[in-house]
Amino acid sequence: MCGIVGYIGSRQALPVLLEGLSRLEYRGYDSAGVALGQADGVWLQRTVGRVADLKREVRQAPAASLGIAHTRWATHGGVTVANAHPHTDATGRIAVVHNGIIENMTALRAMLTAEGVVFRSETDTEVLPHLIRRHLQGDPVDAVRRALEHIRGTYGLVALFADHPDVLVVARNGSPLVVGMGDGEAVIASDPQAVVEHTRRVVYLQDRELAVVSTSGVDVRRFDGTMLDLNVELIDADYDVANREGFTHFMAKEIAEQPRSVRRCLRGRVDADEGNARLGGLQLSNRDLAAVQRVITIGCGTSYHAGMAGALAIEALARVPARAEIASEFRHRHPIILRDALFLAISQSGETADTLAALGEIQLKGGEVMGVVNVVGSTIARACGRGVYLHSGPEVAVASTKAFTSQVTALLLFTLMLARTRDLSLTRGQEVARALASVPEKVAHYLDHPGPIDAAVAAVKDARYVLFLGRGFSFPVALEGALKLKELAYIPCEAYPAGEMKHGPIAMLEAGTPVIFVAPTDDQRDKAISNMMEVKARGATLIVIHTAGDDEMAALADVAIAVPPVLDLVSPLVSVLPLQLIAFHTGLALGRDIDKPRNLAKSVTVE
Ligand code: AGP
Repeated sequence: MCGIVGYIGSRQALPVLLEGLSRLEYRGYDSAGVALGQADGVWLQRTVGRVADLKREVRQAPAASLGIAHTRWATHGGVTVANAHPHTDATGRIAVVHNGIIENMTALRAMLTAEGVVFRSETDTEVLPHLIRRHLQGDPVDAVRRALEHIRGTYGLVALFADHPDVLVVARNGSPLVVGMGDGEAVIASDPQAVVEHTRRVVYLQDRELAVVSTSGVDVRRFDGTMLDLNVELIDADYDVANREGFTHFMAKEIAEQPRSVRRCLRGRVDADEGNARLGGLQLSNRDLAAVQRVITIGCGTSYHAGMAGALAIEALARVPARAEIASEFRHRHPIILRDALFLAISQSGETADTLAALGEIQLKGGEVMGVVNVVGSTIARACGRGVYLHSGPEVAVASTKAFTSQVTALLLFTLMLARTRDLSLTRGQEVARALASVPEKVAHYLDHPGPIDAAVAAVKDARYVLFLGRGFSFPVALEGALKLKELAYIPCEAYPAGEMKHGPIAMLEAGTPVIFVAPTDDQRDKAISNMMEVKARGATLIVIHTAGDDEMAALADVAIAVPPVLDLVSPLVSVLPLQLIAFHTGLALGRDIDKPRNLAKSVTVE
């Protein structure tokens, strides 16, 4: 998703801007651009493609100590240079970069066009520099404030004025922005990762706040002009610069990292002797936990799938009603928020707009939301105030892998805690705790012995359609496997509860149709075998993810992939692994852009 970097100080702005964009590349984008403040106006360079392309095109850029830059993930308007940010006003003396969506863009473009503005892009963003120009009567801050009075929607924006080279004006409503305060300089960004190499002293803007950033510091105010005390925070996260460490792709690295990332998520949180877990970040007493009457997980994409696996585990082990919600659906359904419910907002990036909006709706109605998040200090983590950090380390590949297994791990830890405040015995709790503690070695064992992934790839890579099936705890895994194959190989596929197949989807099966059946041994094994027979009777190619040693099930498969035996509620942590590998190697075989698949963004910061 879009990235913003701004600089004002005594150094050359361009290197700071370009390095900042590079640090934000993982978010996914399709064009990039930079604007530098010059006495004779704004110097502008934009490109379709990567930051590396932009770097080649700015070799002749003028010296400047004031600048803004942007990576764009197309929302309004195609992927073209004209639509790339920054956007300027008609005079070329005001430049703006913007994350978010302006919902009343059509009316605003019509109003400005009627006043003689000639638009040069299809974007919603371009209305901003024209509106600012329309209201500029000397004070750039007031011009931005009055321009934003027209706007309905979300924004994180930075405005640069050639005629006011001593300031950058920043505003936020719904799209994160952070201002890093250095010695005699400031770095503004949409993500702390682009700031932390310059300073760890930051100010996070809140919604409906404006900031005036200069070399002497920052002043923050509300839209009504009320000045606000500066809340300077120190970034303590280690945003170690992600690198591939010798792997061909970040996705390969992040799949391989899962024994370590799961171990990091478990570290200090499993109490094997007491058959319990400790999640201090929830700041919930046992009495609080015992009062929880229902749990709802909120997430998108892979995070939704992890939430589904967690909800199933909560109901199975803690016997507390639980369900998973898709954030965008939940948010717009006028949801019922009960006071005895606990909500878990699940997000790798901590910046997903749909999830952020959903948790805002819950909190508006007095609901309690805890974050299950990977990026420390991210917007969702901060909005929740309490929760569980995954400690997975940076997940750079757009297709989420290690975050999924860490999210499920964190949810299983929560499940154990919740269950032990209820009927779960010490003995059973110890069994679950041991099962969790053994997961890193089980994951490592499978990754060292992945089985016939290549045979599975051969079966799916030219398919017109692939069906994923799973029952119980394996249905969220089937959903995740289908999402991975879509993201990585662009192959049409879908996932169904295996028992549902005979109610329609079986019509899709014909000779050779690949069916990937996630079926680690559990109490639905016999039903799963019946479903497999139905699949085989139609001549489909049956690929089965089964528990090692279940030779009867393996014999049914055209391709049998064994995973280590684990407790049923823990099984998503191992049965997802072959699906990640199948998607990765299929995408590779088809020549796809593995780490940055087409149309996708790592962090979707628009609703
Ligand atoms: C997963 O492979 C996708 N990249 C996507 O579905 C992602 O899980 C979703 O956008 C949620 O992102 P988050 O976990 O950062 O909130």
